[in-house]
Amino acid sequence: MSETEPPPVAELTKRRARAEHRALAQEIAAANDAYFRDDRPILDDAAYDARRRRLVALEEAHPELRDEQPVSEAVGAKPSSKFARIRHRAPMLSLGNAFSDEDVSDFVQRVRSFLGIRAEMEGPAFTAEPKIDGLSLSLRYENGALVHAATRGDGEEGEDVTANARTIAEIPDRLAGDDVPAIAEVRGEVYLGHADFAGINERQRAKGAPEFANPRNAAAGSLRQLDVSITASRPLRFFAYAWGEMPALPAATQSGVVAAFARWGFRVNPLTTTCAGVEALLAHYRLIESQRATLGYDIDGVVYKVDDLSLQSRLGFVSRAPRWAIAHKFPAELATTVLEAIDIQVGRTGALSPVARLKPVTVGGVVVTNATLHNEDYIRGFDSKGERIRSGEPPDIRVGDTVTVKRAGDVIPRVEAVDLDKRPADAAPYVFPKTCPICGSDAVREHNPRSGKEDAVRRCTGGLICAAQAVERLKHFVSRDALDIEGLGDRQIEFFHADSDLPVKEPADIFTLAGRDAANLKKLKDKDGFGAQSVTKLFAAIEERRNPPLNRFIFGLGIRHVGETNARLLARHYGSFEALQAAVLAATDPAAPERQELDAIDGVGPTVVEALIQFFAEAHNREMLGRLLAQVAPQPLEAVASVSPVAGKTVVFTGALEQMTRDEAKAMAERLGAKVAGSVSSKTDLLVAGPGAGSKLKDAAKHGVQVIDEAGWFALVLPSPLGGEGGSA
Ligand code: IVH
Repeated sequence: MSETEPPPVAELTKRRARAEHRALAQEIAAANDAYFRDDRPILDDAAYDARRRRLVALEEAHPELRDEQPVSEAVGAKPSSKFARIRHRAPMLSLGNAFSDEDVSDFVQRVRSFLGIRAEMEGPAFTAEPKIDGLSLSLRYENGALVHAATRGDGEEGEDVTANARTIAEIPDRLAGDDVPAIAEVRGEVYLGHADFAGINERQRAKGAPEFANPRNAAAGSLRQLDVSITASRPLRFFAYAWGEMPALPAATQSGVVAAFARWGFRVNPLTTTCAGVEALLAHYRLIESQRATLGYDIDGVVYKVDDLSLQSRLGFVSRAPRWAIAHKFPAELATTVLEAIDIQVGRTGALSPVARLKPVTVGGVVVTNATLHNEDYIRGFDSKGERIRSGEPPDIRVGDTVTVKRAGDVIPRVEAVDLDKRPADAAPYVFPKTCPICGSDAVREHNPRSGKEDAVRRCTGGLICAAQAVERLKHFVSRDALDIEGLGDRQIEFFHADSDLPVKEPADIFTLAGRDAANLKKLKDKDGFGAQSVTKLFAAIEERRNPPLNRFIFGLGIRHVGETNARLLARHYGSFEALQAAVLAATDPAAPERQELDAIDGVGPTVVEALIQFFAEAHNREMLGRLLAQVAPQPLEAVASVSPVAGKTVVFTGALEQMTRDEAKAMAERLGAKVAGSVSSKTDLLVAGPGAGSKLKDAAKHGVQVIDEAGWFALVLPSPLGGEGGSA
């Protein structure tokens, strides 16, 4: 734009308006690219704003221009590529949940006993703050400047949304103050206020674009945009409440660090306080709950955290959540609607799951059309112990019933109660199918030898011949938390599974697709929904996953009971897939040392061991794996803390420990990458002996094992009081 005032919009002819609009849109797009993508602004703020205002004025006078070149799309920074990944230096964890006052008091008790706080003693202090219902973001500052922003992703690796985060006014580009550490990873929640959410949906409606179900989805959809101008146009907000890597902390308490965040330029939640014990925590919970409706943004509970960071560090983590924090969730929300039909879905393990199809109803701001009915006993009105779960007579659920639907946080909504007064006269009891609706095989309820009871779940016995199971297994294999193959979603898996030219019946087939396509003279390109570009992209995404992290690979196999946590434990313990397979095959013999080793992995229970043995015992699974491992090479995980002086060592604790409880000692050693054993043998590397140690000292002398006391242990593993290990997230 020239320095002289441009003519008023109303005086422009249509042609001139169109020409000016096009030029402005291009100029703004270039400025967006320069600012958001390349980090090198070419316009100052005032000049940029003036251009945007003029563009909007032109569109208001000539609405047809908006359709020709919609602002949001025309002025965006073009995607430089799909999101890159960022590995979190400190994992981004989740929180355990408390649903009742009793759960909260159990949590406080667990913390106290882990820390060895005697009954007559007070403490520890906790912080209590709202649990914001948005999405978590990790912001890395180096020498005070924002260098990276990453979503949580799977907790280990997130998406690089740096350019998007830079557009959020409440995320400082530079941190203020003289106590900002050289490296500071600040974590918190990106969210949208209620009014802004309503505005976004109104604009979506006006454009004929799909509306967002709730503020959290809208916030996530707005942040994870390749076109950062879309993010910039959405008034995203940010509360800071945790941190990742921060070797030099500004305070020794949770509340002190959060206060520092406020000094550095972040918004921190004003409803944060510190509490001395359960009663104070519950009182603050009730206070926040009473203000929930008028806060102007969604919260779904209250988070309690141990305030003292040295105690946080002693408490450590269990699985994916800290021992020192918990989320006290608000009660679920309810709504009433009509059950229109019951469908049966067949999962990857053959489980027949009844799904309620409902007349659409809003539950806590989300439109619900499907809800779970769990299993056939639940529909009949009984729990796993055979006790009634509904008071009515009869207690069952029927198609046509008016039902109460309950939704709590992220949990799948479920049908709860039935209003028998509204039951239609012709409503018949639901007959649960005894055969698989997909392959027709018998569907049975197995007998669980461990509990002596009939399994609540009815399963299809079709195994390999059941198309539903095969398809679900494939979907699981490529899903986000498993191999995470971009562009290969549920729809594509269904397409390939059914395709007769390029069938994908098992995981290995995914990796031979490109070769088979070429041999078939590029058949895929001409198929429905696939263009040359999307085929190339898909093949590239598949290629990228030929060396998946071992834990994701194990998880992706969909072995019963082996979830993400178990997969990670197994990957860490065995290091390679070959070692895992060899160990499990040997462990079929209950007397084999491999079986004892498998049983002894902390966190891997007997049900998982049983499931692993069964999985590898099946010849067809081993054959499938043989074909798959000819295509992919899973990569071992990095050790938990390979730099720790006890990583990979076997440690035994004995005698009385004074500064830590036995649980704490064990957890600490494992966190540092050591294995903790119960007895001293030639495989032991270190014996930590407190007062009163007996025979283990003699065993150590016999095997030449190094012996240290508790103080020696701390000197060995804790390099500095608040260094490295500390931190809440
Ligand atoms: S603390 C190590 N504080 O809740 C735990 N999380 O369910 C660090 N969240 O992924 C998290 N408000 O996205 C913490 N005040 C708060 C929070 C909060 C919301 C989210 C966060 C986390 C999830 C866990």
